[in-house]
Amino acid sequence: MPRRRLCEFDALGDGEAKGFDTDDLDLPDIFLVRKGDEIFGYLNDCPHWNIPLDLAPDKFLSRDKQRIQCSNHGARFAIETGKCNFGQCLGQALTAIPITVEDNVVWLEDYGVRLAERGQWRLTPTPSDEPG
Ligand code: FES
Repeated sequence: MPRRRLCEFDALGDGEAKGFDTDDLDLPDIFLVRKGDEIFGYLNDCPHWNIPLDLAPDKFLSRDKQRIQCSNHGARFAIETGKCNFGQCLGQALTAIPITVEDNVVWLEDYGVRLAERGQWRLTPTPSDEPG
């Protein structure tokens, strides 16, 4: 799959996050977080219940903007690594996505293939897979 243009780097201020709909790729949605001069990208898929982290659009960060926070039950994750360091999925991690920045544009690189190569690909369960 070819790379996809996500947004301009400057569209995200320091300490801001933004979600992107990737339904047309038949993949879970994704989000970006900017911290200083770096941008990090993850699947919008909390490892606790495998559901989106944001209950309100683009609400991915803790109040102090120092960690990613799941709005469902409050688990928190390091922005740089996606590792959960507080809450219900302690020790687990968000799934990083391959992004690059070129000429002020943030690109999603060859998404499915690269995630699969890294053994990180997993789909959000369909309703029929969920318990109960
Ligand atoms: S679904 Fe994210 S902490 Fe429970």
